[in-house]
Amino acid sequence: MRILVTGGCGFIGSNFVRHVLASHPGDQVVNLDLLTYAGNPANLADVEAGYPERYRFVHGDVCDPAVVAPLVAEADLVAHFAAESHVDRSIEDAQAFVRTNVLGTQCLLHAAKQAWGGDASRRLLYVSTDEVYGALRLADGRRFREDWPLDPRSPYSASKAAGDQLARAYHHTFGLPVVVTRCSNNYGPYQFPEKLIPLMILNALAGRELPVYGDGLYVRDWLHVQDHCRATDLVLRQGRPGEVYNIGGNSELANLELVGRLIALVAARTGQDEAALRGLIRHVKDRPGHDRRYAIDAGKLERELGFTPQMDLARGLEMTVDWYLDNQDWCRQVTSGQYRQYYQRMY
Ligand code: NAD
Ligand code: TYD
Repeated sequence: MRILVTGGCGFIGSNFVRHVLASHPGDQVVNLDLLTYAGNPANLADVEAGYPERYRFVHGDVCDPAVVAPLVAEADLVAHFAAESHVDRSIEDAQAFVRTNVLGTQCLLHAAKQAWGGDASRRLLYVSTDEVYGALRLADGRRFREDWPLDPRSPYSASKAAGDQLARAYHHTFGLPVVVTRCSNNYGPYQFPEKLIPLMILNALAGRELPVYGDGLYVRDWLHVQDHCRATDLVLRQGRPGEVYNIGGNSELANLELVGRLIALVAARTGQDEAALRGLIRHVKDRPGHDRRYAIDAGKLERELGFTPQMDLARGLEMTVDWYLDNQDWCRQVTSGQYRQYYQRMY
């Protein structure tokens, strides 16, 4: 298979590229990435060196039809990860979110429609998010199913929901072979340290304050990125066109509880004093419109494609803390320059 991955230099995309090349020896991967602050070619340095015949990087924009059209035309499968992905940034300025997440998705869909027509052997996967469903109350025992109405509540989730709906509209209207996944919060190696888990690990290591938004009782469902990559790979190849598949980790946790676990792991690994690290927790101003709880029912993916997550959360968090400890150069590289300016403005 010839696979076009968009956003392959980001957190999930880079793990996905590595997963595909390692688990499908016959496949070729082209990675289209604009290299925004979140895209780092160093995330795939080993892949560039290890698979010179099967991997190609293209520096470009998913919003640029001249770049996108020929790449889509020559691909059997497209896995569309490229996006602006951080809720806090979307609250600061939503412009880039609408551009990349909405217009970039439309650009890709249009290119696929033009080049593929209704060719059922091709497939385009739109990587959506559980955040398009909106928020649950803590006391609400229900979990999002695929037929739950979309109710995005941040500029980020609104832009992802627009892409999600466009993708399904292209299937409905033009018969384009589109599949959509809606996944819960990912964690693992190469995640940019603006997101909760890597931010807390790096701040704890450096003895910096640990900013917990509001009361810290916000609940997210955590999925290890390797499980997410296995699931998206399965849906890309075997999902039914036009269908949506939830992907979840069965690991709901309140933020404060999660931060406590990370502190304990960092203390155990480095010998830092756990109580002193706990003393670094600061309840800072809440995120505007903060969604209280996300919870995913991933039964459809299990029933139809036999997928269940393999990584236990405790083990996954331990491995993630170890990865950030072992990759301090990477951390220093990505937390310099543009990122540092943003970070200093936020806190
Ligand atoms: P990320 O921010 O780490 O990476 C995004 C990548 O997209 C970067 O490499 C960036 O350079 C690239 N990119 C941005 N704009 C581009 C453009 N205009 N053209 C080409 N490339 C561009 O994001 P991530 O956390 O890896 O998320 C990947 C996808 O998964 C996103 O679509 C996101 O909405 C979705 N998702 C993420 C999570 C999560 O927990 N991280 C959960 C569910 C869904
Ligand atoms: P985040 O990693 O930004 O993912 P998302 O907003 O897409 O779920 O945040 C996860 C949770 O952690 C969310 O409830 C917001 C909270 N949070 C903090 O409390 N402090 C922080 O510094 C960050 C980045 C997030």
